[in-house]
Amino acid sequence: MLLPHTLRAALVFMMFTGVAAAQNAKPSDDYVWAAACKDCHKAEYAAWEKTKHANAIGRLSESEREPGKCVRCHVTGATELAEKNVNAGIQCEGCHGAGKAHIAAAASGAAKPGAITRKPAEEVCTSCHNETSPHFKFFSYAGLAPLVHPVK
Ligand code: HEC
Ligand code: HEC
Ligand code: HEC
Ligand code: HEC
Repeated sequence: MLLPHTLRAALVFMMFTGVAAAQNAKPSDDYVWAAACKDCHKAEYAAWEKTKHANAIGRLSESEREPGKCVRCHVTGATELAEKNVNAGIQCEGCHGAGKAHIAAAASGAAKPGAITRKPAEEVCTSCHNETSPHFKFFSYAGLAPLVHPVK
């Protein structure tokens, strides 16, 4: 689809700000971090751990990790960076959303614990994979979503 550049830029901007607001609506207390998902989702964890998402923070120098610069797209649940590396990398919850309620439901024995997004929307990915990324080349949801970790 060809759009005038300004319109395209505006759309990317709207997508970015809209999704960033939705993700950041969850307080950091609702994030439990990737290690908390490992025991119940071993295959997804083992695959994710080997991807670049798991160590995306490693791409940034100390000064680039200061809030407001590069770091927002190289971490999970980005805004509250009291301790800079606590949410390092694009963890499970960076795509699936905060997992505390899901884990509580799962721990109480529910077979279908819910309270978590099964398939993150394209807009979740393009909140980072967009033209405001200094290294952006291209993004294809259909092409890349199957690569983030294998699914059952
Ligand atoms: C105590 C065990 C447990 C923990 C911990 C756990 N889950 Fe789950 N999860 C389950 C069960 C059980 C299901 C339902 C069966 C299935 O899809 O494997 C599930 C399903 C899911 C689904 C699919 C949801 C759907 O609607 O089909 C996603 C996505 C998910 N979990 C992500 C996570 C993430 C991310 C974490 C860490 C924040 C996590 N889980 C932690 C047990 C757990
Ligand atoms: C919070 C920001 C963020 C989100 C959300 C995000 N990514 Fe990424 N993604 C990155 C960054 C940063 C890298 C580059 C990491 C590196 O090169 O070290 C990356 C790298 C990748 C790679 C290359 C991985 C590899 O190991 O070679 C793929 C594929 C990818 N992303 C797909 C996706 C898809 C699909 C989604 C949505 C389902 C998504 N990403 C969501 C930030 C994000
Ligand atoms: C809008 C989100 C976003 C911002 C802001 C951002 N990055 Fe990234 N970064 C990404 C994504 C997504 C990738 C994976 C490549 C892509 O864009 O498809 C990536 C990849 C990288 C890579 C790997 C290089 C490569 O060719 O794959 C480095 C290094 C990096 N970023 C450093 C930085 C630095 C330094 C800054 C700040 C000047 C920054 N990033 C700001 C999202 C972002
Ligand atoms: C870069 C984004 C991204 C990250 C990071 C990510 N996932 Fe996913 N996950 C997806 C996408 C996209 C799907 C849906 C795939 C499909 O159905 O095509 C998915 C599906 C799932 C499912 C349901 C399908 C299945 O395998 O049963 C579970 C469970 C799951 N992810 C757990 C996790 C866990 C645990 C982690 C961290 C160790 C994680 N995910 C990290 C994007 C991500």
